Amino acid sequence: MILPGSASQSLAAELAAELGEDLAPVEFERFPDGEVMARIGDVSPGRAVVVASTTTSDAHLELLQLQDAAREAGAREVVTVLPYMGYARQDRVFTPGEPVSSRAVARAISANADRVVTVNPHEAAVCEFFDPTATALDAAGRLAEPLPADLTDPLFLAPDEGACDLADTVRDAYGVGETDYFEKTRHSGTEVEISPSDASVGGRDVVVVDDIVATGSTMSEAIAVLNDRDASRVFVATVHPLLARNARTKLARAGVEAVFGTDTLERPVSSVSVAPVVAAELSE
Ligand code: R5P
Repeated sequence: MILPGSASQSLAAELAAELGEDLAPVEFERFPDGEVMARIGDVSPGRAVVVASTTTSDAHLELLQLQDAAREAGAREVVTVLPYMGYARQDRVFTPGEPVSSRAVARAISANADRVVTVNPHEAAVCEFFDPTATALDAAGRLAEPLPADLTDPLFLAPDEGACDLADTVRDAYGVGETDYFEKTRHSGTEVEISPSDASVGGRDVVVVDDIVATGSTMSEAIAVLNDRDASRVFVATVHPLLARNARTKLARAGVEAVFGTDTLERPVSSVSVAPVVAAELSE
């Protein structure tokens, strides 16, 4: 049975359909003091698959409540799917005095999970913070599906070296094109500097591929460079279209043709589901 968190209702429904499993009735409530409540109805005593992107502190709490409610209802096994794992990028102490936030949340989630599955965390090593077996799935290949079929001499570009594998994966799934990457220097949470490669982009359609678009700074800088170099159309493809604050506006102002994301985060640009990838893992 699939137990959806409030931020993952579309994906949970897709996953239920892929697996041929029922969706549990779940209700969400907020008490006058601000505390949240995720309440489940009747669930079968078999495997409970909690599907919850932890986009906010409340979503983290809901996830813990769903896991606990599943145990309380007698679930034989509690599988926790984190389509988007919040705090995953805080995976070390960057400045003395800071916590390793991803480890802290992983420990809390581990308390009621027999198995954890997540999708394209920034670093797969974050899986080591969980006590039960945790698996990082690569759903980047799904991003080829919504891309236009008529890309001209396509270039799949990583905005930094860390995204090269993702660009390769999307190119392979699309079936044609080259890959390249830019160098990125981050000056602050919202300021990045992009150093372009020598790749010739004039007249070509470019797909910039990254695991996450958060503030949109990385992507908007990359798009601006590509447009300065007379790229034809520039598309953005990202597994996690977080698009915080004014990120979507930044991309539009930079001249993006279209943005494609997956449903690890439910946004207007979430045009393809990772459900087949998660279902394949859970069917093994
Ligand atoms: C970092 O290396 C990640 O892969 C992304 O490039 C980054 O998190 C995107 O953040 P933003 O949209 O805020 O530039």
